[in-house]
Amino acid sequence: MKTIKQGVCLLMCSLMLLSCKDEKKEDMQPTTEAKAKSSIVKSDYATTKDGVKVEKYTLTNANGMTIEVITMGGDILSLTAPDKNGKFADVVLGYTTPDLYLDGNPYFFGAVIGRYGNRIAKGKFTLDGKDYQLTVNDGPNSLHGGKGFDKRVWDATPVEGDEPGLKLTYTAKDGEEGYPGNLKVTVTYTLTNANELAIAYEAETDKATVVNLTQHSYFNLSGDFSKSIESQELELKAGKFLPVDGTLIPTGELKAVAGTPFDFTKAKTIGKDINVADDQLKKGLGYDHCWIFDDASNSLKEIGSLYDKESGRFMQVYTTEPAIQFYSGNFIDGTKDSKTGGKYQKRSGLCLETQHYPDSPNQPSFPTTVLKPGEKYTTKTTYKFSVK
Ligand code: BGC
Repeated sequence: MKTIKQGVCLLMCSLMLLSCKDEKKEDMQPTTEAKAKSSIVKSDYATTKDGVKVEKYTLTNANGMTIEVITMGGDILSLTAPDKNGKFADVVLGYTTPDLYLDGNPYFFGAVIGRYGNRIAKGKFTLDGKDYQLTVNDGPNSLHGGKGFDKRVWDATPVEGDEPGLKLTYTAKDGEEGYPGNLKVTVTYTLTNANELAIAYEAETDKATVVNLTQHSYFNLSGDFSKSIESQELELKAGKFLPVDGTLIPTGELKAVAGTPFDFTKAKTIGKDINVADDQLKKGLGYDHCWIFDDASNSLKEIGSLYDKESGRFMQVYTTEPAIQFYSGNFIDGTKDSKTGGKYQKRSGLCLETQHYPDSPNQPSFPTTVLKPGEKYTTKTTYKFSVK
């Protein structure tokens, strides 16, 4: 690991190595000597309307895999992974200009989501006998924390070591968006040499509150965002999901996936059942639901995978969380420029948001999302990239 000052030089070396790799596809496994050194490069990204500087960090691991992260929202702008020929491509959706990241990130591209990822019915909940009213921003409900963590500028500290990391911190104020408690949040991204994006979330509060943190990257493993994710295969080790009402709030039922379009217990293409006549698919305009893992433990377990047959890219997902929101990009409306040309369309990308259940603060039968003073919120999620 080199210092940031030396990073520019290292990035150039890495790019040179990458271009060599592209030319020699048959010889892709880097030898020890040829392995690029990991690096962290910091650069100025943009300035918000309020004059706050937003920085960009480019992390490169020893295999040449990269992520670009900005301090606005902890947004991941790009993530490159090799295909079966060793060719790297960016596999996450992102805007082509900074303004959309600075002015509200309408699709939550690549963002850290909090204080409460997903929906809270009518933006209301009661905790320790006190009623709280949150910002309502999604029909009658509160989604992704109102003006949430995706719309805040975080402090960043590079984590030096064999595997590059970036530690992001943000303190949400007591009362911010209606939530109780000053909440100190740390999110650390690490790009491991096993080609994993490992994310560690931590939080502490000075008053009882609710917390549900996640990451909102839209994956398309083909690296060509003009291709729909419907041909990619998803597996979820989840025998149950949460049916929703017309505003996408869980009804409280845990429904078996067997015999429904929601059965991903054996890998199948996302497009296979997405258009069948089904009341739940109609409500979500596709998949926009929470799946409950069979393994309810809070150990870091593999809970599923995504596979793009054509490129061979395979992504396994590991988490300590009990559930995942699989969102098939149904609300992408064809108005935003794509990094690979044209516009992003419905189903150009999909989110695999590991988390606790939506609306838990109002549903006592769901695992709790309450965090009390003196407790530490710690969760982990890892996206591991390889080829098949
Ligand atoms: C939600 C979708 C929402 C999207 C916003 C997802 O996490 O499940 O309903 O439209 O975020 O980009």
